[in-house]
Amino acid sequence: MAQLDIIGLAKRYGDFHAVRDVSLSIKDGEFLVLLGPSGCGKTTTLRMVAGFIEPTAGHVKLGGTDVTVLPPWKRNAGMVFQNYALFPHLTVAENVAFGLEMRKLPKRDIAQRVDETLALVRLGGYGGRLPRQLSGGQQQRVALARALAIHPDVLLLDEPLSNLDAKLRQEVRVEIRELQRKMGLTTVMVTHDQEEALTMADRLVVMSEGSVRQVGSQRDLYERPADRFVAGFVGRSTFLEGALEAPGRFRTDGGLVIACTGDGASKGTGDGRGRAVLSVRPERVAVGPSPNTGLDNSLSGTVEFVSYLGALIDIHVRLSPSDRMVAQIANRDGAFVPEVGQPIHVGWPASAGQVFKE
Ligand SMILES: Nc1ncnc2c1ncn2[C@@H]1O[C@H](COP(=O)(O)OP(=O)(O)OP(=O)(O)O)[C@@H](O)[C@H]1O
Ligand SMILES: [Mg+2]
Repeated sequence: MAQLDIIGLAKRYGDFHAVRDVSLSIKDGEFLVLLGPSGCGKTTTLRMVAGFIEPTAGHVKLGGTDVTVLPPWKRNAGMVFQNYALFPHLTVAENVAFGLEMRKLPKRDIAQRVDETLALVRLGGYGGRLPRQLSGGQQQRVALARALAIHPDVLLLDEPLSNLDAKLRQEVRVEIRELQRKMGLTTVMVTHDQEEALTMADRLVVMSEGSVRQVGSQRDLYERPADRFVAGFVGRSTFLEGALEAPGRFRTDGGLVIACTGDGASKGTGDGRGRAVLSVRPERVAVGPSPNTGLDNSLSGTVEFVSYLGALIDIHVRLSPSDRMVAQIANRDGAFVPEVGQPIHVGWPASAGQVFKE
């Protein structure tokens, strides 16, 4: 097992920057998740770590050794590709043996390693089948076995669950995490699925347009997002456009004045003045029939839309011709659930408002 260091890694295709200056240290045995929208450079980053794409700049170190110029089979990284990429004409056993043959292990050792690894992913007895004779979940496990068979120092997983249905996805999530823990494998997994990222990761990296936006725990990203992109990508937020008039006082373009002192209120906002956007999480907003005098902010509005989600209810509120926000309430006995068109009051503490400079 080993620590993985990614140092200033970049990939350019002509003038296009697919990955820009990515630096990350993944601790021995850590499960790191790269999260970001389609096209943000996740696969490119992972493939550079595995050695399938040559970086334009930067270095990759495995266990302290620089492996940047080594071919994939000479760096001990096991990779599960987006959509598995099993060899369709090879049997399950031959697929799993592939990396071992590249590494020129003796035949007998290969056979034993293949059996062990297939048993590990609970596919003992399936070695003679072709990939097309397996279900999606089984194919996924073959891809995982192929990556694990080489006894990798680092496991690289590119959207390994993307082709599974919702139920199987949840099961395989747990299986992968248990296996990873048991083997103490340093792992980097790529996904664009927020829930998958939040449930599986020790630590997360949010990427956008080739760059790392923020690295942190689930809580860091949700409660202290580094910028507007992260605030909108991890969880939900209402964004109100406007300007900081003074430190802690935000005026929306619709003319609402909002108190936003507290943690995060002045992130990147310099002297506390100028164009900015205010972000408020829907569950921090209280809704009631009368003004909430106990909160720093209390505004009146009209209900535009109510969406019933079962345990939770979203209430979309029009605050001014150009300002609207979402409040999310728990669907408990006695909860105040307003009707569309009803005038209501919303309120939230100043500490719930995060301001980001435009
Ligand atoms: N060989 C290539 N030549 C030119 N551009 C490329 C090449 N490979 C990837 N790109 C571009 O680089 C960007 C990043 O691609 P990448 O596959 O890393 O995205 P991703 O984050 O994995 O997206 P997804 O979630 O859709 O898999 C994309 O805009 C893509 O079009
Ligand atoms: Mg990808």
